[in-house]
Amino acid sequence: MCGIVGAVAQRNIVSVLIEGLRRLEYRGYDSCGVAVLAGGEPKRARSVARVADLDEQVRETRLEGVTGIAHTRWATHGAPVTDNAHPIFSRNELAIVHNGIIENYETLRDMLRGKGYEFISQTDTEVIAHLIQSLYSGDLFAAVREATGHLHGAYAIAVLHKSQPDTVVGARQGSPLVVGLGEGENFLASDALALAGSTDRFMFLEEGDVCELTLEKVRVFDRDGKPAARDVRQVAAYGGAVELGPYRHFMQKEIFEQPRAISDTIPQSDVFDASLFGETAPKAFAEIDSLLILACGTSYYSGLTAKYWLESIAKIPTQVEIASEYRYRDSVPNPKSLVVVISQSGETADTIAALKHAQSLGHKHTLSVCNVATSAMVRMTELSFLTHAGREIGVASTKAFTTQLVALFVLAATLGKMRGNISAKQEADYIRQLRHLPAALNSVLALEPQIIAWSEEFSRKENALFLGRGLHYPIALEGALKLKEISYIHAEAYPAGELKHGPLALVTEAMPVVTVAPNDALLEKLKSNIQEVRARGGQLYVFADADTKIVNDEGLHVIRMPEHYGLLSPILHVVPLQLLAYHTACSRGTDVDKPRNLAKSVTVE
Ligand code: AGP
Repeated sequence: MCGIVGAVAQRNIVSVLIEGLRRLEYRGYDSCGVAVLAGGEPKRARSVARVADLDEQVRETRLEGVTGIAHTRWATHGAPVTDNAHPIFSRNELAIVHNGIIENYETLRDMLRGKGYEFISQTDTEVIAHLIQSLYSGDLFAAVREATGHLHGAYAIAVLHKSQPDTVVGARQGSPLVVGLGEGENFLASDALALAGSTDRFMFLEEGDVCELTLEKVRVFDRDGKPAARDVRQVAAYGGAVELGPYRHFMQKEIFEQPRAISDTIPQSDVFDASLFGETAPKAFAEIDSLLILACGTSYYSGLTAKYWLESIAKIPTQVEIASEYRYRDSVPNPKSLVVVISQSGETADTIAALKHAQSLGHKHTLSVCNVATSAMVRMTELSFLTHAGREIGVASTKAFTTQLVALFVLAATLGKMRGNISAKQEADYIRQLRHLPAALNSVLALEPQIIAWSEEFSRKENALFLGRGLHYPIALEGALKLKEISYIHAEAYPAGELKHGPLALVTEAMPVVTVAPNDALLEKLKSNIQEVRARGGQLYVFADADTKIVNDEGLHVIRMPEHYGLLSPILHVVPLQLLAYHTACSRGTDVDKPRNLAKSVTVE
């Protein structure tokens, strides 16, 4: 999704800005651009192709400057055409880049038109550009501070003005922005990752902050217009670019990294201890009587899986909600409910807004399960549990999902233990099973050749059904999401028992029905559902545990999974679905790591 990089230096800064955009590319974008102050004027280059194209342009036109801003845009207001690409100018004096959405842009646009400002783009960003320009009287910092008071919605912005050649001003509300501190130069970015190689010292701006960067100084004012001190943090982990190695795509690499990612996420300790979730967790966990899980997309499905664990292991009532729905509905808050937000990026706008909403309703204890230690969500919650998936580049989430599942299983077992619902023997068994997971996953990954054979057939389909029951219904949902996301095949998932209540009407010989078949308490029920599909000529593709006795037959294609893995089985069963989606997408020739219309980190509502 949209990305920002900005810099004030004493050297030509264009290559740093372009490199920053390159590092943000994996998030998804449809146009990009860079502006610098050159010869006292703002000059820009913009492209509706890739950052590489922008790089070529700036080399050809010899665009150079010591103060600059750059952007990758994921279109919201206005098509991805050059006129809408950022930086956006106001009267050739001011340049701005913007992440987020301004909700009152129509009112502001009318007001600014009345003042004689001409609008060239269809973006809401141009409104901010003209608004700041209209308030400018020699102090960009002051003009931005005043302008932000008129903006409704979410934004992170970086602005420069021709009359202040050594200054970049930034502001944030609802979208992340971080200041990078250098020696005699300073930087701004929507993600610290963009500045790897330029600095490892960062100030994470807070909601409502406005900052001014000059060569030697960074000033920050808070939402009340008062000078604010923000901690400087050393973030060494933002090293070099992630290599693809022997893999064809990052998604494939990330699928195969799961044994390592899971083993890094499993706690070292031989016991489940509340302090794994933060210093105050033992007290907080003792005070709660239920859980409210909020998340989006794949992270929501990990929450749905966790509900089964939390209610069966910890016997604690658990509600799971799609963040974008929860934030806008009337709900009945329970201050004794632990709010759990789950997110790979920790920056998803809907989940952040849902968390804030829950906090505003009086929810006291909050926990984030997240893959990015420095993310907004981790900073906003009382407690946190970090997944150690490592950077996930592919838009389709894989290793982030399975590591979230590990984290949530640990949460369920910890609460189960605190509430006296698991014995010491049970605890030792769970720990042993967790530790054996990486090896079990390796045996599932070894099924890849059989899955490739199936994917040839899937690549010729336009629809698919996914079935699962109980703990594995969210896994069917996740399998369907993976397939549609990267192969563009329409896929739906149902709890297998629901089939006869409607979707069975879709079953013909042309409809592949992917079925997740663990050897659990619902196996016999699932076998009946399988027969319902066979009787209608449907083609079943079943991932069956070795001990299920489901075997190949007419209309019944089976890939044998390892022995049943008990409550942790969903972590194994999702992997062949990831591989099926991946290889089907490869056969169809789609852009696997950057599927159309999607962004890695969804930082707008
Ligand atoms: C998964 O493959 C997705 N691309 C998407 O659903 C993602 O899980 C969702 O946008 C939430 O992201 P987060 O985990 O970073 O909050």
